[in-house]
Amino acid sequence: MPAKVFQIAVIAGDGIGPEVVAEGCKLLEKAAELDGSFAFRFTDFPWGCDYYLKTGRMMPPDALATLSGFDAILLGAVGRPDVPDHISLRGLLLAIRHGFDQYVNIRPVRLLPGAPCPLKDAKPSDIDMTFIRENSEGEYAGAGAWLYEGTPQEVVIQDGVFSRKGTERIIRYAYELARREGRSLTSISKGNALNYSMVFWDRVFKEVGEEYPDVETHSLLVDAAAMFMVKDPRRFQVVVASNLFGDILTDLGAAISGGMGLAAGANVNPERAHPSMFEPIHGSAPDIAGKGIANPLATFWSAAQLLDHLGRREWHDRILAVISRMLRDGIGLTRDVGGSASTSQCGDAAARLLEDAGATRAP
Ligand SMILES: NC(=O)c1ccc[n+]([C@@H]2O[C@H](COP(=O)([O-])OP(=O)(O)OC[C@H]3O[C@@H](n4cnc5c(N)ncnc54)[C@H](O)[C@@H]3O)[C@@H](O)[C@H]2O)c1
Repeated sequence: MPAKVFQIAVIAGDGIGPEVVAEGCKLLEKAAELDGSFAFRFTDFPWGCDYYLKTGRMMPPDALATLSGFDAILLGAVGRPDVPDHISLRGLLLAIRHGFDQYVNIRPVRLLPGAPCPLKDAKPSDIDMTFIRENSEGEYAGAGAWLYEGTPQEVVIQDGVFSRKGTERIIRYAYELARREGRSLTSISKGNALNYSMVFWDRVFKEVGEEYPDVETHSLLVDAAAMFMVKDPRRFQVVVASNLFGDILTDLGAAISGGMGLAAGANVNPERAHPSMFEPIHGSAPDIAGKGIANPLATFWSAAQLLDHLGRREWHDRILAVISRMLRDGIGLTRDVGGSASTSQCGDAAARLLEDAGATRAP
C-alpha cells in the first residue's frame, strides 16, 4: 500500500480539455506506480460550458466547498464558441483562482532542446525564464461599471485594483524565488503611462528589494519587455508581472518556447490554505477538438508542477526529462510540434519513457 494517497480534483472542461487531461492523469498514475510510495485518487467534475448550457452556471454554487477538500486541482481548459468567453472565464477559472486565493501564477518559459522556436539562432540556454504573474487582482479584478448601456452616452470603466497586500506578496514571492535559485529578477511595469497602479508597483518593487540586496534586479516597461523577449531573451530569468502583463507576455513566452502545446501554468496558494490548480495555459482549441491530435505535453508539464507542489520534485524533474527526450528525439510527438502521433499515442510514449532509466536524467 502506498504511504500517501493524493486526492486530485479533475476538471477536464471543454474542447481538447478532456483529451489532454486523460493523458495527464495517465502519466501521473505511471509516476505513482513507479514510485510506489504515493498514489492518486482522481475525482472528475463535469463542469464547464456544457454544464453551463444545461444549468446556467459553469459550476455549482457550492463548487469551492466541494473542491476545498482536495490536495490539488488538475484543469484542462474551458471555452466554447457558443458561450461568451467572459462567462466561461469568470464563472470557473477566475472563480477558482480568486476563491482559493491562488495569487501566484507560475509559468515556466523554457526552450527544451528539440522544441520548435521561431527565433533565428536561439539556443535552449537562451530561453529559460520563470514568470511569476499576479493572479488575484490587478487588471483582472473585475471591478468597473457599465453606464447608460446601449445609449449614445454609453460609458464603460474597467478598474485595475492593486492593493498593498496583493502587490507586496507577489513581489516578495518572486524575490524569494530569485534568491533561492540565484537568478536575477525583472519587474514588468508601465509606470510612464499608468500613473497610479504602475508607479505604485515600481515603488513596492523597490521597497521589498531593500530586503534582498543579494538579488540582481531589473525593471522594464512592458512594451520594451515584449521587444527584448524576442530580440534578447537571455536577459530574463525570474520575471514578476501584474495579471494582464503576465498574461500577455507568457503567451509570447509560449510562442518562443515551443508553442501553446507546451506551455504550462500553476495557480498556487503558497500558504496552502486552499488547493492549488494546475493547467496547460492553452484554451479549449475548438478548431481541433475531438480529432485526437491535441498536444498533451503542456498538460504533462502542469502535472510535473503538480508533483513538485506535492513535494515530489524528483518526479517533476523526471517528467521534464521525458518531455525533453520526446522533443529531442522526435518520439511520440503530435503534429503541432512536427510529429504525427495522436494525443493518446503521445501519452503512451511518455508513460513508456518514464519507465526508461535514460529518462531520469535531468534535461
Ligand atoms: N485556461 C483556459 O481554460 C483558457 C485559456 C485560453 C483560452 N480559453 C478559451 O479557449 C477557447 C479558444 O481560445 P483560443 O482559440 O483563443 O486559444 P487556444 O489556446 O484554444 O487555441 C489557439 C491555437 O492554438 C492551438 N492549440 C491550443 N492548444 C493546443 C494543443 N494542446 N495542441 C495543439 N494545438 C493547440 C489551437 O488549435 C488554436 O489554433 C476560447 O473560448 C477561450 O476563451 C481558455
